[in-house]
Amino acid sequence: MLIALLPGDGIGPEVIAEAVRLLDTLGIDGLAFEEAPVGGAAYKASGHPLPDSTLDLAKRADAILFGAVGDPDCDALERHLRPEQAILGLRKELALFANLRPANLFPDLADASALRPEIARDIDVMIVRELNGDVYFGEKGMRTTEDGLREGYDIMSYNEAEVARIARTGFETARARRGKLCSVDKANVLETSQLWRDVVIEISADYPDIELSHLYVDNAAMQLVRAPGQFDTIVTGNLFGDILSDLASMCAGSIGMLPSASLDAQGKGLYEPIHGSAPDIAGQGKANPLATILSAAMMLRYSLQLPEPADRIEAAVSNALAGGLRTGDLGGTASTREAGDAVIAALGS
Ligand code: NAD
Ligand code: IPM
Ligand code: MN
Repeated sequence: MLIALLPGDGIGPEVIAEAVRLLDTLGIDGLAFEEAPVGGAAYKASGHPLPDSTLDLAKRADAILFGAVGDPDCDALERHLRPEQAILGLRKELALFANLRPANLFPDLADASALRPEIARDIDVMIVRELNGDVYFGEKGMRTTEDGLREGYDIMSYNEAEVARIARTGFETARARRGKLCSVDKANVLETSQLWRDVVIEISADYPDIELSHLYVDNAAMQLVRAPGQFDTIVTGNLFGDILSDLASMCAGSIGMLPSASLDAQGKGLYEPIHGSAPDIAGQGKANPLATILSAAMMLRYSLQLPEPADRIEAAVSNALAGGLRTGDLGGTASTREAGDAVIAALGS
């Protein structure tokens, strides 16, 4: 089983190193790693954020473990050369349309949540985010209006096949959880969202056992903070899912805690923390590696059919937190390396 390691920029390499150390410690038979540059690091080395050789490796591999991309030095580049295009390109080229972002609170992190503990305690939601469409991938550009004003535009669209596909993932995910699916859109304003809602309702005929509800995205953001425990599974579009998952991360303690899986129709996947390259703390050994470590656990479970070591990793993270592990984002002082060590030490407990 070949794992493509794409560490990327900023804290990406720092957090990937800890996930790899943990996987090495588990000593899983038949795992091989191959690393390739991506993002700003790849642009600086070879002039492109997603070189052909990196894309090739991602296609050949059984699963991809991704750090983060994004580099302030690259923010003025033409858009197609920016680091972020690498992750967008991988998602599109590999048809990774289903992004699963679980947000749940480890019992010992109630004090780290931005919410009061009695509210935070209940959060256990799976955000199913569509990843191949929406305003991310529509036509975009800059033009000049008749009045000589600069105007930027990005076309937002979804077709019914794209919505149906992610809706089914949402219903299946809810079925494997607590049987409740909330579809989040902005159908009161957007045609894209009206189609989204219509198609989700059509698909729901195949899932009579699932309790379906709908929320507008502004209300959904408010409800996630007011009473996160009301949610089981959320299905939503690319942009809304991006925003709601960062929001949900703070209910669960920190953006440094949330892993993700991005899956194609066959279950091949890319696994990455939901956070970015965090230029403000990069190179200081301060980043929380737990989101990446938990992404590695998702990789073992979803793409490599290895649920036992996945369970072991998640239990070790929980035990390490119970033992007092806290990186800076969780209000503590542990370094990235010390956090990795604490999880490895907890594997035995
Ligand atoms: P970010 O997620 O990188 O950082 C937001 C804040 O959270 C920062 O204060 C950062 O220090 C903190 N943070 C993030 N991860 C952390 C961790 N593991 N431990 C401790 N603190 C952590 O978001 P941003 O600052 O908006 O973006 C920075 C760059 O990352 C941009 O170039 C952006 O495009 C990119 N980005 C990439 C991805 C990805 O690769 N999938 C995701 C999000 C953002
Ligand atoms: C994420 C990031 C990306 C997104 C960016 C870097 C393209 O924010 O993975 O959440 O918007 O999907
Ligand atoms: Mn994001």
